[in-house]
Amino acid sequence: MWNLEGVISTITQVPIFEKLTQQRQAELMAIPQAELAESIAALLTRPPAPRIPHGRVLSNLVYAAQYYEVFEAFSLPEQLRVYEPCVGASDPIIIAAEAYSNGQADYTTVNLNRTLREGLQGKIGHLETSVHIIDDNAQRVLTHLGPNSVDVVCFHHAINDAIQTAVSEPRGMDTATVDWWPNERQMIEWMAEDFESGLIEKRGKPELMEIIGNAAKLTRPGGYLIFDHWSGLSYRDVEWFPWELFCDLVPIARQWIEESSLPVTEIKLPDADPQWWMFLQIEN
Ligand SMILES: C[S@@+](CC[C@H](N)C(=O)[O-])C[C@H]1O[C@@H](n2cnc3c(N)ncnc32)[C@H](O)[C@@H]1O
Repeated sequence: MWNLEGVISTITQVPIFEKLTQQRQAELMAIPQAELAESIAALLTRPPAPRIPHGRVLSNLVYAAQYYEVFEAFSLPEQLRVYEPCVGASDPIIIAAEAYSNGQADYTTVNLNRTLREGLQGKIGHLETSVHIIDDNAQRVLTHLGPNSVDVVCFHHAINDAIQTAVSEPRGMDTATVDWWPNERQMIEWMAEDFESGLIEKRGKPELMEIIGNAAKLTRPGGYLIFDHWSGLSYRDVEWFPWELFCDLVPIARQWIEESSLPVTEIKLPDADPQWWMFLQIEN
């Protein structure tokens, strides 16, 4: 899985390339072949190096290709039903679903931040996938989606999003309306503070576990919950950044899930480092 040649071809030929806007296709085609391979190889490495050339154009496409290959590995239905909590302005899962189902997928996200949501809408208008964007807290997803309503839930770099929101709202930050990026440092610092003090057990962990538990309830038996996370090496030496904690969010979530009674089994896939990826199958 995620073999360099395969990922390059998924991105630059069918199935992903043809789903991109003309502008994005042109940006991609403007990258010289050798640089393309080098940048994609760097983006497939975790943690990714600082300042990867063409990272702005390529990083979301690499994630889309990775998710596409995971959908294939799990032989998910061609008309895929996907739920993604905490999408923000980030389109790789939607692109992966569009490519995998050739426009026939059904995609739902539950997301709080309005400005990021508007940014997302600006990117996906040309796609054929049926996209439902719900402005709400993912803790309330069961009021929007019923049991057995999706085949797969994708937590794309969303463990931190859910925890950051849970520790910031009680401190008075309205994360639905706040300008996310200038405030993210504060959210991450509060998250680190709450892990350090143990308060995370009371706020942070319960909210994340409710979101994961709800995701398990709305996924059909035999379906999957997919988690990925990353932390760029450029942050390793940043004084305020909780590097070790941030790198450990998948293992921490794994431990919390193992301690819960969620009816899931972890599946290992070749080349997917369990430090950064986790695949859970809903038991029958
Ligand atoms: C920075 S974006 C990240 C997008 C995407 N997960 C990624 O990393 O590429 C974070 C988004 O997660 C949303 N979010 C965080 N906690 C949430 C929750 N409990 N319910 C719904 N959305 C949430 C925020 O409102 C925001 O839109």
